[in-house]
Amino acid sequence: MIGVLVSGEGTNLQALLDDRLPVVAVASNTREARALARAEAANIATAVFPLEDFRTREERDLAMADWLERHGANVVACAGYMQLLAPAFLARFPGRVVNIHPSLLPAFPGTSPIEDAIAAKAAETGVTVHYVDEGIDSGPIIAQEPVAIVTGDTAETLSARLHVAEHRLYPRVLRDLVS
Ligand code: GRF
Repeated sequence: MIGVLVSGEGTNLQALLDDRLPVVAVASNTREARALARAEAANIATAVFPLEDFRTREERDLAMADWLERHGANVVACAGYMQLLAPAFLARFPGRVVNIHPSLLPAFPGTSPIEDAIAAKAAETGVTVHYVDEGIDSGPIIAQEPVAIVTGDTAETLSARLHVAEHRLYPRVLRDLVS
């Protein structure tokens, strides 16, 4: 059973839902996440855990872990979740927290991987699904798919092609992980 963490648009969440993966709960750090509406439309439990409602990030993350477990999640998939997870959260789901990132890690970690790949004049970039550890996009890699960078690519055009690859790769990897 998968719990999904989101902060934004939620097209990767949508890909998991469209593929009929067993998503049981969707949590966000922000009410603004359009992903929440996607979950609600699919009748999946949602909750928002804003950092400012808690004394510390660890307290917030532990409340989120409790909520995910109560809803039956035993695998946690970050899908555009824009915050680091506290070690205490990771300890609750050991080896069972994964993330998708739009670069061929370890190249271009961080918050602007698409712009960074274009600025570096790389011939290709891609997408990576990896286990989450305490670092930034640093955990063991599970699967990758390359995407070529073509002449004239902007962050928008490249991002659109990366999303297509993400929506293919993430459901496949998560299906393997939960089976
Ligand atoms: C994706 O590119 C994902 O790799 C990154 O954030 C983006 C989220 O997109 N971590 P969406 O919210 O799933 O549309």
